Amino acid sequence: MADQTVSAIAPAKINLYLHVVGKRSDGYHFLDSLVVFAGLQDLISAAPAKDLSLAIDGPFSAGLPKANDNLVLKTARQLTKAMDVRKGAAIRLTKRLPVAAGMGGGSADAAAALKILARLWNLNPANDALMGLAARLGVDVPVCLNGQAAFVGGIGEKITAAPPLPPAWLVLVNPGVALSTPEVFGHCNGDFSKEARFTDAVSTAEDLAAVLQTRGNDLTEAATALEPVIGDVLEALNASQGALLARMTGSGSTCFGLFADPDTATRAATALTQNHPGWWVKAASLVSDTTRPAN
Ligand code: C5P
Repeated sequence: MADQTVSAIAPAKINLYLHVVGKRSDGYHFLDSLVVFAGLQDLISAAPAKDLSLAIDGPFSAGLPKANDNLVLKTARQLTKAMDVRKGAAIRLTKRLPVAAGMGGGSADAAAALKILARLWNLNPANDALMGLAARLGVDVPVCLNGQAAFVGGIGEKITAAPPLPPAWLVLVNPGVALSTPEVFGHCNGDFSKEARFTDAVSTAEDLAAVLQTRGNDLTEAATALEPVIGDVLEALNASQGALLARMTGSGSTCFGLFADPDTATRAATALTQNHPGWWVKAASLVSDTTRPAN
């Protein structure tokens, strides 16, 4: 019988800027953020099976809950419930992205799980229903499911396509400290920013850096107060030759440097690895559309 395994990539999410623009009465924060992806990803696959199961491997598998509270299994269970599915799946997750790191790894995995399980089980969920399910799984899941560069509003569920962005490269650095998203948001004071969207296409990495320079990540102060090493990471990225900008993504602790070409990014990553052997450092392309092959 032909192998019926279906697989997908779950790319890292990067917040090029992230403004906290208000707070809801239930404690969630209203955001304005430009989200893109990196050419770095977890991998997920699913094969037909009688029951639902999850096997996890990869360099960051140890940091994940294997049992029922894993977001991938929760995703699978929610999908079976929503679509009245009575089939199982043997799911395998290869965890290549650091956990609790601001790159939406869990959300990316959940979004990829929704896609492959819908294929494995021959489901044709309406887009709205799938997006609703994604939003209930986590605030970053809808934008990961969308898979394209977008402005994110509301508490994460309102997605608006971003204007065309230029080819650019990233150096991602994680200093090995995990941050709890609720804790970081909890340290956010009431000093809210304004929305900062733009409509014109950006044609070079240098222009993108200039656009981003007037925006920021409002969670940086809170995250750095909790884990001061984030300040060291930003300083090291800023000092890297060719870095156009350095910034934290999401609620941290991962930070990125923006670069105009892959060679400069690779050289910066090599130097950072040599100087900080304990840090996770990767050069990757900035990806505006995960549904197309990586550039
Ligand atoms: O949905 P997710 O599990 O990713 O969110 C983690 C936590 O981050 C929330 O429970 C909430 O405390 C905080 N959060 C927030 N405002 C947002 C997104 C997340 O306060 N827009």
